[in-house]
Amino acid sequence: MIKIAILGYGTIGSGVVEVLNTNSESIAKRAGDEIEVKYILDLRDFPGDPMEDKVIHDYDVIAKDPEVQVVVEAMGGVEPAYTFVKRALLAGKNVTTSNKALVAKHGAELIAIAREQSINFLFEASVGGGIPIIRPLNSSLTADEIEEITGILNGTTNYMLSKMTFEGLEFDDVLKDAQSRGYAEADPTADIEGYDACRKIAILTSLVCGQQVDFEDIYTEGITKITADDIKYAQVMGRVIKLLATSRKTEEGYCAMVAPFMLSQQHPLYSVNDVFNAIFVHGNVLGDAMFYGSGAGKLPTASAVVADIVDIAKHLHKNILISWSSGKMDLVDKRKVQSRFFVRAAEGQEQVKAVFSEAEFVEVPGITGETGFLTGVMTEEAFEEKAAALKDIRQRIRVV
Ligand code: HSE
Repeated sequence: MIKIAILGYGTIGSGVVEVLNTNSESIAKRAGDEIEVKYILDLRDFPGDPMEDKVIHDYDVIAKDPEVQVVVEAMGGVEPAYTFVKRALLAGKNVTTSNKALVAKHGAELIAIAREQSINFLFEASVGGGIPIIRPLNSSLTADEIEEITGILNGTTNYMLSKMTFEGLEFDDVLKDAQSRGYAEADPTADIEGYDACRKIAILTSLVCGQQVDFEDIYTEGITKITADDIKYAQVMGRVIKLLATSRKTEEGYCAMVAPFMLSQQHPLYSVNDVFNAIFVHGNVLGDAMFYGSGAGKLPTASAVVADIVDIAKHLHKNILISWSSGKMDLVDKRKVQSRFFVRAAEGQEQVKAVFSEAEFVEVPGITGETGFLTGVMTEEAFEEKAAALKDIRQRIRVV
């Protein structure tokens, strides 16, 4: 019997209990032993809940109980999750977490502690919810140099952009709709400003390059400035607007960015709609691979957490090597990154052509008093210099 403690009995924590109950037999077979929830740590009580008698309020009880072999961290946020997880690992307890903020900030240190202790710190659910991506990067794709990893890593914003595209709505209206459906939080900042996707691409890039990529170094732009008119331009061009989190290996080093992009129909992520997430990976020997599925939600995320528990059970007292050292990886300066841009400017076509000689103009029936155009490929720095020569740029969106 493997005894576990769950920290946090919210959406993910209760999902873990549900998954363990739903598939108890097959999980026990695959883990080679039964999994039993011994404690649930939460500030609240849950009268009437079948797990009521497992709920405790004092973390010390878990940290000091030698029977607990696995701690499931489902609290979210950096503190006190970090303190609790570190203490668990130092006490020789394996940990699985769904917490991207914790993994992005302290992943390297927690992985190192687990290695020293010959135990495991696993975090499959921290990126892409139920989509397997951490384990594939750490095991199935280890023959490759990963040259690109680009994902739609936030379900809320993908739902919002899909709704704007299919129904012609404005940002504020789709945000209200996403909140009423429970996709977006009451404070939606982390999703709509791209911070959530930023932490996830920081984790993926750290795994791909084997070093610490600080999320603070990743240029991040959200979707708050995307309008119904931008979507109309995209549609005229046969494109869609998606919030991409992307990192690429170039001769100069790794480039990473989170921003809205206009995608052509040929792009592998073009058809990923609604709350779904997808991650496109290009390896130097593999070529292309795609991972698609439910990137959030109670049961998909809990599925990934429980799969980590099974993996831990199969590797008790044996560390699964994860290559992610604390040595910091400096990203390529964003100004040197090459991009192509879609622009809406108040100036006429002649003035635009005088600055952007390669401009391809785009016209949308009903939108007047401005010039929409696509630039050629140039560095971000070169674009900013040219754009400064035009007085009134209303929008600019990168194009892939
Ligand atoms: N708010 C996140 C999303 C949840 O919308 O994808 C999963 O991290």
